[in-house]
Amino acid sequence: MTASIIDGKAFAATVRAQVTDHVTRLKEVHGITPGLAVVLVGEDPASEVYVRNKGKQTLESGMASFEHKLDASTSEADLLALIGKLNADPAVHGILVQLPLPAHLDSDLVINAIDPAKDVDGFHISNVGLLGTGQKSMVPCTPLGCLMMLRDHHGSLSGLNAVVVGRSNIVGKPMAQLLLNDSCTVTIAHSRTKDLASLCRSADILVAAVGRAEMITGDFVKPGATVIDVGINRIERDGKKKLVGDVEFQSAAAVAGAITPVPGGVGPMTIACLLANTVTACCRANGLPEPEGLTA
Ligand code: GUN
Repeated sequence: MTASIIDGKAFAATVRAQVTDHVTRLKEVHGITPGLAVVLVGEDPASEVYVRNKGKQTLESGMASFEHKLDASTSEADLLALIGKLNADPAVHGILVQLPLPAHLDSDLVINAIDPAKDVDGFHISNVGLLGTGQKSMVPCTPLGCLMMLRDHHGSLSGLNAVVVGRSNIVGKPMAQLLLNDSCTVTIAHSRTKDLASLCRSADILVAAVGRAEMITGDFVKPGATVIDVGINRIERDGKKKLVGDVEFQSAAAVAGAITPVPGGVGPMTIACLLANTVTACCRANGLPEPEGLTA
């Protein structure tokens, strides 16, 4: 292996420490406690784990955590009424509705009912538009975490060729937008892209967010490139359950200059950035300066 490992677990701990410091100051100097409300509809086991971790880390950083667990059969009207209440609640600075929602609920409608200033996921159409036009917005947590690690590793990203594999609204598209805003030359690739491997080999920065276990192998990597693996895939190998990324780690690490592992790469950064976004939203709501280094 030649690549250096980008340690997302350690980086996330640093971000959480910065968040905790900022929360302490907000409480002691301004008497304000940032609050994050998380709404979970139904009993999807993976979502329950995420929501539990979010609540735990919110409390550990000194913020207030409000968890709303609703029955899978909750009506759209009831969910919208709850969002209306959270929008109006001054103790709530961030609102997150865990996705995916049960099929009878319209995710776009629900997400767009959240006050954009409290939309710590950055999924509201206003925030998407603000990010797309390079204006101040709430930035989706996973791409924000990737951007922080890339800036830390490279310093300036200006002029670098970036290929983002995956075009989801949660990761691929906002990731591409953030890289463009940092003056990268950006290509978004996806399942229909022709000759994906050779396109990826043009990338100084390769972000894999396709949701296909170990699809990106060493053949896709330019020597010395930085590889960011957003994938979290549960597979079974040799009778054992394993967590792997969208990148085949061994072969990619033999060619790359730097690479994020799975687990311990992008994953821990997502919740750290959610906490950072909640502090940012709280500061903006109170007309206070935003925490430096925790926003895009
Ligand atoms: N489900 C999987 N990832 C996410 C995320 O980043 N935000 C929300 N709200 N739901 C998710």
